[in-house]
Amino acid sequence: MDNLYFDKDVSLDSIKNLKIIVLGYGNQGKAHALNLRDSGLNVIVGLRDNSASLKTASEDGFDCIDISKGVRESDIISILIPDQCMAEVFDQDIAKYLKPGKMLIFAHGYNIHYKEIVPPPFVDVGMVAPSGPGYAVRKEFQNGNGVPTLFAINQDITGRAKQIVLAYSKAIGGTRTCCFQSSFEEETETDLFGEQISLTGIIPMIINESYKVLLEAGYSPVVSWFVSFYEVKNIADLISKIGINDFYKAVSETAEYGGLRQADKLIDDKFKNEMKSALDFIKSGKFHQNWKNEASSDYPELKAMRKKLEDSPINEITNKMLKILDQNKSNEI
Ligand SMILES: NC(=O)c1ccc[n+]([C@@H]2O[C@H](COP(=O)([O-])OP(=O)(O)OC[C@H]3O[C@@H](n4cnc5c(N)ncnc54)[C@H](OP(=O)(O)O)[C@@H]3O)[C@@H](O)[C@H]2O)c1
Repeated sequence: MDNLYFDKDVSLDSIKNLKIIVLGYGNQGKAHALNLRDSGLNVIVGLRDNSASLKTASEDGFDCIDISKGVRESDIISILIPDQCMAEVFDQDIAKYLKPGKMLIFAHGYNIHYKEIVPPPFVDVGMVAPSGPGYAVRKEFQNGNGVPTLFAINQDITGRAKQIVLAYSKAIGGTRTCCFQSSFEEETETDLFGEQISLTGIIPMIINESYKVLLEAGYSPVVSWFVSFYEVKNIADLISKIGINDFYKAVSETAEYGGLRQADKLIDDKFKNEMKSALDFIKSGKFHQNWKNEASSDYPELKAMRKKLEDSPINEITNKMLKILDQNKSNEI
C-alpha cells in the first residue's frame, strides 16, 4: 500500500542532532517525551509557570523549562497541550521566538486547519498523531511495539519536513506498527467525525440508553448492566482482532441474524442522512464556530449534557459492579 511507512523505511539521522522541546507533560506529552528520550534523542520539556506537571517531569529526569525560553533554544517544537488553549499559548509564548528552519509538530490538525494558529511562513509545520491515547503510546513502546501514527505536512520550507516527522514517528514507536500519510484537513475532519459518530457519540450513549430501556422494562440492574455495558469490551476486542465479517462468523447465528436485522432498522436512511449532516457541519466550519462560542460562554450546553449524564442510572451500577469485579480479580491473584 502507498504512503505507509515502517521502521525499515525511516532513519533517525535527520533528528539525532536536533534539540526537541515537548510542550506539556500530560496525556501525549509525557509519552512522547519519554519515548523520544529512550530513542536516544535530545529532549527537554516546556511547561507553563507553576505547572502541576513540573514535579512528575522532573522526577522522570527531564530538564523542564519555561515555554518561550525552550522554544528559543530548540529546533523541533512539539506542541502537546490541550487544543482549546493552544492558540493563546502560541501567540504569547511561541510565535515570537520562532526562527527560520525550526519545525512545529502537532498531534492533531485542529488549530492549523481552522486557522486558529497561523505559523510564520519560514518554519516547517508537520503532524504526528498517534491513533491512541498517551498511555498506550508509552506502554506499547516499552513492550517493544508501537501505536500507529498518522503524519502530515502543512509547510515544508527546509525540504526536510517529511524526513523529520517520519523520524519523530519512529522515535515514539509509530513506525514499529505503521505510519500513514494524511493532511491536516483530512485528519481534523475525519477525527471529529469519528469522535462525534462512533467514539464519543454513539458507542457510550447506546450503552447508556439500552441499559435504561432494560431497566424501565423491569429487568434486574445487574443483568441489564452485563448485557448493555460489560459485554461491549469483548465484542470491541473481537471486532478489532478479526474484522466485522469474521466477527459475525464468531457469534451465534441467532445473534448474527437478530443483530443484522435490527441494525438495518436502526441505521436507516434517516440515520445515514444525519451522519452526512454531521460531516457537513464539521466541513463547513460550523462545528468549530459552535465549539468556540460554547467555550467563550463557559460551556453552557456541555455543562447541561454532563449533568444529564451524571444523573443516569447506569453510573451507580457501573461503579458498584466495577468495584466488585476488580476486587474478585485481585482475590484470584
Ligand atoms: N488525548 C489523546 O488521546 C490524544 C490522541 C491523539 C492526539 N492528541 C492531541 O495531542 C495534543 C495534546 O493533548 P493531550 O490530551 O495530551 O493534552 P493534555 O493531557 O490535556 O495536556 C496537559 C498538559 O498541557 C499543559 N497545559 C494545559 N493548559 C496549558 C496552558 N494554558 N499553557 C501551557 N500548558 C498548558 C498541562 O500543564 P499542567 O501540567 O501545568 O497542568 C499539561 O502539562 C492535542 O493536540 C490533542 O488533540 C491527543
